[in-house]
Amino acid sequence: MDTLLISGSTRSGSTNTAALRTVHALAPPELDTAIFDGLAALPAFNPDDDHEPLPAPVARLRAAVHDADALLFCTPEYAGALPGAFKNLLDWTVGDADPRSISGKPVGWLNVAGPAAPSGGADAHASLARVLGYVGAHVVEDACLRLPLTRDAVGDDGLVGDEVARAAALGALRALRDAARPES
Ligand SMILES: Cc1cc2nc3c(=O)[nH]c(=O)nc-3n(C[C@H](O)[C@H](O)[C@H](O)COP(=O)(O)O)c2cc1C
Repeated sequence: MDTLLISGSTRSGSTNTAALRTVHALAPPELDTAIFDGLAALPAFNPDDDHEPLPAPVARLRAAVHDADALLFCTPEYAGALPGAFKNLLDWTVGDADPRSISGKPVGWLNVAGPAAPSGGADAHASLARVLGYVGAHVVEDACLRLPLTRDAVGDDGLVGDEVARAAALGALRALRDAARPES
């Protein structure tokens, strides 16, 4: 069971990326995870380029999605919406006609917008839910969590130290596993 972890932030000290790095570091062997680190390399989506041979960074994204049983996102909110770079990534998933595309795959998100964020990242996540519905992904409610984190929640090791947040994040991973393989 492989879950692809995709951060919506390109910031080097990103809290969102740290949350997913923590999930990756703590996931037990039966909940294998892979981090997608190619967000910043993706070209601006252009339908004219959405054909074989795809731009290499797009081919890499799609291969990572194809290899995954489920996807877990963690994105900041910018100006009441999804960050442009992350929306761009999602746009590149829309035209993927491969049977292993995101359509039908279990997906969830961790919303780690800080406690001081006015809307708690709600607008970005409403938009994310809409986009994921559009691409036909299976949004797993138990894998969609609000886990407010401040920037100092990330330790020198680059991981989120808070035990409650760690346990909740791993719970989201398990919910995705249960949705992907209900029999296991
Ligand atoms: C340009 C910009 C716009 C932002 N707009 C919002 C916003 O509309 N709502 C919100 O809750 N936070 C907003 N923020 C705060 C970010 O979501 C917050 O800094 C978050 O920690 C960034 O995620 P990161 O640590 O993963 O980079 C904004 C930050 C930036 C840089």
